[in-house]
Amino acid sequence: PQVTYIEHDGTEHRIALEEGLSVMRGAVDNGVPGIDADCGGECACATCHVYVDEAWLAKTGAPGEQEASMLSFAATAQPNSRLSCQITMTPALDGLVVRLPEAQH
Ligand code: FES
Repeated sequence: PQVTYIEHDGTEHRIALEEGLSVMRGAVDNGVPGIDADCGGECACATCHVYVDEAWLAKTGAPGEQEASMLSFAATAQPNSRLSCQITMTPALDGLVVRLPEAQH
């Protein structure tokens, strides 16, 4: 499945990910800037914060409890914020679009 990452300045990166990989891993492994992922995907740092495109919100679903609590520490969180290490790619998410915040914290 493919993900389009849109940087804060509008630069787009379209990356094909293996099913089962996280959206965070796809960015880090392919050199997409803007995702720090300090904790390595443990849902414990909130530096893999992304904004899910509105059209995809129903498919990615809501953040889990721990994720929501980590997101509450992200100063730039919005209703469509997710931690990208907690979004696992499935065929249903083919074409997913996420935007990157100006900075991770
Ligand atoms: Fe740390 Fe996602 S990589 S919360």
